[in-house]
Amino acid sequence: MNWSELKSRSYCPYSNQPSAAIVQGKTGAYYAGVRVENVSFPLTITAIQAALFSCLSESDYPVKLIIAVDDEPDLLNYWVSQFNMDYMKSDDIDEIELHDAKKSVSTDIGTALQTLLPKAIVKQSKFPVACLIELENGFIEGVNIEVDNWQLGLCAERVAIAKAYATGHTDFKSIYVHTAYGEFSSPCGACRQVIYEHLPFHDIHLHHSDGTRSKLLTVDLLPYHFKSNFLSGNT
Ligand code: THU
Repeated sequence: MNWSELKSRSYCPYSNQPSAAIVQGKTGAYYAGVRVENVSFPLTITAIQAALFSCLSESDYPVKLIIAVDDEPDLLNYWVSQFNMDYMKSDDIDEIELHDAKKSVSTDIGTALQTLLPKAIVKQSKFPVACLIELENGFIEGVNIEVDNWQLGLCAERVAIAKAYATGHTDFKSIYVHTAYGEFSSPCGACRQVIYEHLPFHDIHLHHSDGTRSKLLTVDLLPYHFKSNFLSGNT
């Protein structure tokens, strides 16, 4: 793996500026992150955030950030100080073996979602959410991650989507969401916009806290959604 291969996993149809970062966790594992843009620009997931949240969502803790020599990624100083990480610029990442987010699920999906919940980092909300994205052959796990700056946290659904892009698994089949509490499990408005962009006509399975379930089509979650073809020059 080199930077241009990793950056090519970015989803950046609006800026055409791919970006990638790698975070090493306490366990020694390396987690990639790539930029995942959204037609609603502020919903864009940046590369460092994606790499960090991938690490944190796997119950690891970030100790080192690696970026390409010529890169100045978004919020670099903020993230480095937030996690008190070592930070290095290097163009030599060929020997690094990146963590693969694709998993198999050996239990039923309801149990898998419940097992994921304790991995959520919810110091502020105390409201854990679990997400599984089903691929053609496997699953990507996501949990919500909160950081000191409330607006820089990410929902479970977006963590899963970020991990899927960073690890090159975008053959999405369906998505599952489960919250521990609340009347029913349902993605927030921002996630609906992001889910629509990546899984537009897919099944979404909502596993509610009382054990009941709903199955909907993602497109139906956000009527009159904002579409990328509203922007000239993009598909
Ligand atoms: N949250 C999700 O993870 N997914 C949703 O669709 C709804 C909200 C998280 C974000 C935050 O960590 C907490 O739940 C409260 O908003």
